[in-house]
Amino acid sequence: TKNYQIAVLSGDGIGPEVINETIKVLDAVAQTYVFELQYQQALIGAIAIDQTNEPLPLQTIEACKQADAVLFGAIGDPKYDNDPNAAVRPEQGLLALRKELGLFANVRPVKAYKKLLDKSPLRTEIIQHTDLIIFRELISGIYFGDKKISSDGRVATDTCTYTQEEIENIAHLAFQSAVKRNNKLTLIDKANVLETSRLWRRVVQSLATQYPTVEVDYMFVDNAAMQLILNPKQFDVILTENMFGDIISDEASVIGGSIGLLPSASIGDKTALFEPIHGSYPQAKNKGIANPIASILSGAMMLDHLGEHDAADAIRDAVLHAINQGILTPDLATDTTYTTNAVGDHIANHVRYRTGHRYQ
Ligand code: IPM
Ligand code: MN
Repeated sequence: TKNYQIAVLSGDGIGPEVINETIKVLDAVAQTYVFELQYQQALIGAIAIDQTNEPLPLQTIEACKQADAVLFGAIGDPKYDNDPNAAVRPEQGLLALRKELGLFANVRPVKAYKKLLDKSPLRTEIIQHTDLIIFRELISGIYFGDKKISSDGRVATDTCTYTQEEIENIAHLAFQSAVKRNNKLTLIDKANVLETSRLWRRVVQSLATQYPTVEVDYMFVDNAAMQLILNPKQFDVILTENMFGDIISDEASVIGGSIGLLPSASIGDKTALFEPIHGSYPQAKNKGIANPIASILSGAMMLDHLGEHDAADAIRDAVLHAINQGILTPDLATDTTYTTNAVGDHIANHVRYRTGHRYQ
């Protein structure tokens, strides 16, 4: 039987709770589709700072490099958020890990589930049938450019830099995805103002000739922010730089009704990391109210990455079943609400039941 090594970085806040449910579900599919998953836990974020004084201990980097994939929970703790003078921050751990592992493409699928259309503050006619995927560049741009602060502390600088190669790497992935989907790619940029955006446009324009079936269009980020909630159905594959992608993807989460549904994959040349897009949600920690679905669906993306497509489909199917049956945490429930643990149990049991009966 195939055996996969998974580095598990549960992190902070609700991270450990949603990861527990994800492992429960992964173990259920592994059993029914006959492969093995071995987990190695490692520290990152505020909990790592508390225990080792570093947001990303060397051991964690090693564990991730040796693993076939990384499963990630959440990062961040309020005790660091409102202190602009904090010397170390939990988020540094995640940023450094992305860089260390070369995770250049962050992939965030967004869709509107039929059963949950009324959970979004946006009108049903606007959001129904939305099915888009965001490709966000993850290890360059303003997040990673030179930063400085003047000695008197009165002038601060962040630099946004992109190379042709960095843009090409993620653009190829986005084009390949468009070919498998609906052959439409939208580059979101600010080419009317930024030199880096003009480089993105030139690179994407020249790659487009290699993907003749794909219709490419270009949209300024301010307009895109508006279009995304006015008419999200116009999008299929969105390609964008690091910071625009960060902002646009939180905005897109409103379409699905809860940020607690959205998974992500961060792809590198050698490894990949899978994480829910929601953060550590410290207010919900240990209350059993965190929605585990975003993390569970990230687990499904991980199985796709490992080539276990049937198992990944079984997870998505079980999640859909939970949604349709209303087995949901308070962020989405209508009358009866279920705990984090109960939602995880339901999904894991459905995976076993379904595969046990092979009714399809
Ligand atoms: C995300 C998060 C991170 C980011 C933070 C925690 C550094 O918001 O994954 O979207 O800005 O990339
Ligand atoms: Mn973000």
